[in-house]
Amino acid sequence: MNIPMLDLKAEYELLRAEIEPAMLQALAACQYIGGPNVKAFEAEAAAYAGSRHAIACASGTDALLLALRACGIEAGDEVITTPFTFVATASTILMCKATPVFVDIDPRSFNLDLDQVTAAITPRTRAIVPVHLFGQPVQLAPLRALCEKHGCKLIEDAAQSFGADLGARCAGRKSGAYGDIGCTSFYPSKNLSAFGDGGLTLTDDDALAAELRVLASHGSRQRYHHHVLGYNSRLDELQAVILRIKLKRLDEFNTRRRAIASLYDRLLADVVETPFADGHGRHVYHQYTILSDRRDELQKTLTEAGIACAVYYPVPLHRQELFAASHGDVRLPVAERTAQRCLSLPISPLLRDEQIERIATVIREALQ
Ligand SMILES: Cc1ncc(COP(=O)(O)O)c(C=O)c1O
Repeated sequence: MNIPMLDLKAEYELLRAEIEPAMLQALAACQYIGGPNVKAFEAEAAAYAGSRHAIACASGTDALLLALRACGIEAGDEVITTPFTFVATASTILMCKATPVFVDIDPRSFNLDLDQVTAAITPRTRAIVPVHLFGQPVQLAPLRALCEKHGCKLIEDAAQSFGADLGARCAGRKSGAYGDIGCTSFYPSKNLSAFGDGGLTLTDDDALAAELRVLASHGSRQRYHHHVLGYNSRLDELQAVILRIKLKRLDEFNTRRRAIASLYDRLLADVVETPFADGHGRHVYHQYTILSDRRDELQKTLTEAGIACAVYYPVPLHRQELFAASHGDVRLPVAERTAQRCLSLPISPLLRDEQIERIATVIREALQ
């Protein structure tokens, strides 16, 4: 049996009876931009995550760019973040003409190492951007204390973790709803996904919320009057229809992701390093990522067996040409070693147990 990384077709079939009439209704209503579903989705997403404001936009990348701009990040500023993430976490810092400062990660959680963040703070640090990588919540309370001490902003990249509980120290909120601003993505592979691109920022701060809206609509506070350099960044009505339907199922899907992860853990823990859930919040397993010294061989065997798998991420950002100007010869050994050993396995919530068992059997046979 061939097993895809993500079974979007199965998900569509499951939700089809709800999605198709709602889409037809929105098509007939013809309010394609700024329509009622976008407004309703913003309210529902804010209530779900535990934030005062939610502002929809065109992608997770835009959410990060808008957040950095709303926080006033500009040329000469430094922003501390992780090198082990998707490029958008840091390319958006360059888009603001600021300097990303990459620090190494924790070898088990793959998230930012707090001690290294502390050591990297300088008088030019204006923001810290933690990523809840692969769905595992970062410990945000100490990062927030650090930001308060040094007068900088905390911007959460929650693109891979929408729906993850941050735990008791974060007032029972969900990822994205604790920093000054939280950003997420609705790219089709994400835990909450659209049928195209989409993104969202969350904040409790009324002034930041207003600024995020201004920046997302051409820098305009009053129609046809433009105050700052802004963007055209909107979530469209049809994507909002999909997201409203899927938001109602998100907790159920994330619970299933956790069940799949514990089945994988049971079947694989003695042959590879299985993901470490550090227990500070609730992992939502956007990815199930194992570590093995025989990663390349394993990837080849799985591919030949018709099982999809992927390396997220093969090259940490500080080793990318894009960031050579600021990080030419910087070495971050944990991120570099993780990039050589990591392999993400299929973890769609609609995967069946027998598919997981088949994947585990192929891995065990390859490594034993
Ligand atoms: C950690 C992280 N940040 C940002 C993004 C950017 O999101 P988008 O693809 O919606 O622009 C992604 C998604 O791919 C991501 O995984």
